[in-house]
Amino acid sequence: MRKLMKVLDGEAFDIPPIWLMRQAGRYLPEYRETRKKAGGFLDLCYNPDLAVEVTLQPIRRFGFDASILFSDILVIPHALGRNLDFREGEGPVLDPITVDEINALNTDGFLEHLKPVFETVGRLREELPTETTLIGFCGAPWTVATYMVAGRGTPDQAPARLLAHQDPSSFQKMIDILIEASTKYLIKQLKSGADCVQIFDSWAGILGGDQFQRWCVEPVSRIVSNVRKEIPDAKIIGFPKGAGVQNFGYRKMTGIDCLGLDWSVPIEQAKTLQQEGAIQGLLDPLRVIAGGKALDEGVDQIIDNLSDGPLVFNLGHGITPQAPIEHVEQL
Ligand code: CP3
Repeated sequence: MRKLMKVLDGEAFDIPPIWLMRQAGRYLPEYRETRKKAGGFLDLCYNPDLAVEVTLQPIRRFGFDASILFSDILVIPHALGRNLDFREGEGPVLDPITVDEINALNTDGFLEHLKPVFETVGRLREELPTETTLIGFCGAPWTVATYMVAGRGTPDQAPARLLAHQDPSSFQKMIDILIEASTKYLIKQLKSGADCVQIFDSWAGILGGDQFQRWCVEPVSRIVSNVRKEIPDAKIIGFPKGAGVQNFGYRKMTGIDCLGLDWSVPIEQAKTLQQEGAIQGLLDPLRVIAGGKALDEGVDQIIDNLSDGPLVFNLGHGITPQAPIEHVEQL
């Protein structure tokens, strides 16, 4: 069995498996080169030749233990018929969804739209070294919904939070569609060759109390149980970024196998959370920009405190475009 998969089953290693969120990306010259060839960012996501190439680049260069499918969480709204554009220096831009448009949402034809992604997954499983774990992914419904409602990234997700308060039944309708779409999407990735999948809830930390429960925990728990109805032994990593104290209970309530932690989680809390199963993450991505002692100390803290339990070494969020390659080599 592949090393990362053993960790998801609860095994511990002195040298844990390592991969980095956003490991295929702009800090790599070969990525920037391929990205130029593709034209738009979405053209890169939907072109299996190029998507396979950029997924493999960090594996060739660094020999990571796992490879994550190159795509984006926003291909789901795109496949559901929402306009999507990635603009230089601006990030993703969508048409903010109206309540009437929410009520008209459906999943007809959406898997068809995502066919190139499944082809990419299948080809990756053939081309990757046997020992390398292939991770598929989707965005959690809440995080995807924040972009659908605001039409862009916002500092506090106010448009989505407000809609959830003002019109919870319409908001629920959108979340329900995203649950259905994400479930089908993950099942198809697993059947196409992904060894496990990760659910990114990048904006989980902005919600608290009943809102966190209803819009973060419930939807992820439904995706996990629906995927396992079809694939009973499906292995799933959850990443409720910024969840803080709400990390406690998240694994049990959602049914995930591995809990992703950002860099704000104190190491003692990470240790407690690890008693219940595998954890992943923690290293501040800015330590990779800083390099030197800052990087060495960050790595040591994690390894010294957590390598006697099930640990997937990773950053606490994606690697930044500013990260020098020599520092990734040092890591
Ligand atoms: O290597 C990998 O991790 C796989 C590919 C991957 C991308 N996005 C590629 C990408 C994954 C797993 C994602 C997930 C994703 N996308 C998330 C969840 C994780 C997180 O970072 O919080 C979110 C919120 C998105 C939405 C998104 N995509 C934003 C906000 C942006 C713009 C910000 C930025 O970094 O530019 C993107 C664009 C994007 N997705 C890029 C990459 C490599 C950069 C675009 C480019 O190359 O021009």
